[in-house]
Amino acid sequence: WVAPAAALVIGYLLGSIPFGVLLTRLGGAGDLRTIGSGNIGATNVLRTGRKGLAAATLLLDALKGAVAILLVEAFAPGNEMLAAAGAFIGHCYPVWLGFRGGKGVATLMGIVLVLHWPSALIYAIVWLGLLALLRISSVAGIAAAFSAPVGAAAMGRFDLVMLFLALALIVLWKHRANIERLIAGTEPRIGASKHG
Ligand code: G3P
Repeated sequence: WVAPAAALVIGYLLGSIPFGVLLTRLGGAGDLRTIGSGNIGATNVLRTGRKGLAAATLLLDALKGAVAILLVEAFAPGNEMLAAAGAFIGHCYPVWLGFRGGKGVATLMGIVLVLHWPSALIYAIVWLGLLALLRISSVAGIAAAFSAPVGAAAMGRFDLVMLFLALALIVLWKHRANIERLIAGTEPRIGASKHG
């Protein structure tokens, strides 16, 4: 049981690094949790007006999911899915922030990329395509997340479908405030000056 437990813990510790909060603070742009939606992800970093910090947050939040899996693959092969789950839970529920973490879209991208890159390609196309089309980050992110289990199933990777589906459902759950705003018609678009 040691290797599976270690995989979960390593994943969790890496995933729980709140890059958005850290980079925003280091960049002198304040406490991200008091800005915009209060979320710790790249979309909200963008609302500080610091595009470079937002891009770095996106990249690092995705990377921590990927690195967690690759680390575990090297030292405890066979436990990659536990590392992925740990990293995702760490990002969404980090102990350091009172378990109030991010919504998982970037971290899931990194996870899918390492576990099944063709699904990640679909993920990226859905995500970027909807972002370009609608400019609503939450809708693009939720749709991309669900494209992962669909893509994996369509390509016969049934071993990954349950994990991807479970993580996509958490993405959906973490977006419940966004969904309320979408229904109310107050969800802001990327580039809009005010948060609804
Ligand atoms: O990945 C988070 C994004 O989908 C929504 O972020 O700040 O608009 O709630 P935000």
